[in-house]
Amino acid sequence: MKRLGILGSGKGSNFVAIAEAVRRKALPVEIVLVLSDVENAGILALAAKFGIPHRYVAPGKFRTKLEPDVEMEYARLLQEAGVDLVVLAGFMRVLKPLFLSLFENRVMNIHPSLLPSFPGLEAWKQALDYGAKCAGCTVHFVTPETDAGPIIQQAVVPIRVDDTAETLHVRIQKEEHRLYVETLRLWSEGRLRVEGRRVSIL
Ligand code: GRF
Repeated sequence: MKRLGILGSGKGSNFVAIAEAVRRKALPVEIVLVLSDVENAGILALAAKFGIPHRYVAPGKFRTKLEPDVEMEYARLLQEAGVDLVVLAGFMRVLKPLFLSLFENRVMNIHPSLLPSFPGLEAWKQALDYGAKCAGCTVHFVTPETDAGPIIQQAVVPIRVDDTAETLHVRIQKEEHRLYVETLRLWSEGRLRVEGRRVSIL
């Protein structure tokens, strides 16, 4: 069975969707390690509840990236755990080329917009403020350029006239949970083929 390592900084709702799918045997993988750069992150408490090895690793002095030594420590822990795929689930720091070269095409992320529209923070709010009619979410492989790696799958979430940032975010997150699990299932079955920027589902 393929082994996943999950990185997160936040509440961990995508982690829960993945862990529940694993538990009900809808996703044939093993989550072997959860790492967080935030000591009191919800994702760590949730990993404990699921009985999954988890650990806080202090990020160092930067705000949007890991300190280089620390980043190598993350890589070491993931490799030591025999991780086949690194799953970013709300991990709020960019990963640098050296880390990514150790896991080429083996780091996935979910972003709350239809990329390449609205990269960056609070993407659902960006879509709403822009006046877009559709928002959504994107699962993609991670490359050094933020939110710009090869797109694997997307889901559309229509924006309603009475939406607020909060109501829209709730509907997008619901789709994220479904889409991430489905994409990971395809990956676990060896059904994703990457050719340059294009990912096809076999
Ligand atoms: C998600 O909305 C995801 O799109 C973004 O970070 C958020 C993580 O949420 N990358 P959660 O911690 O999984 O609830």
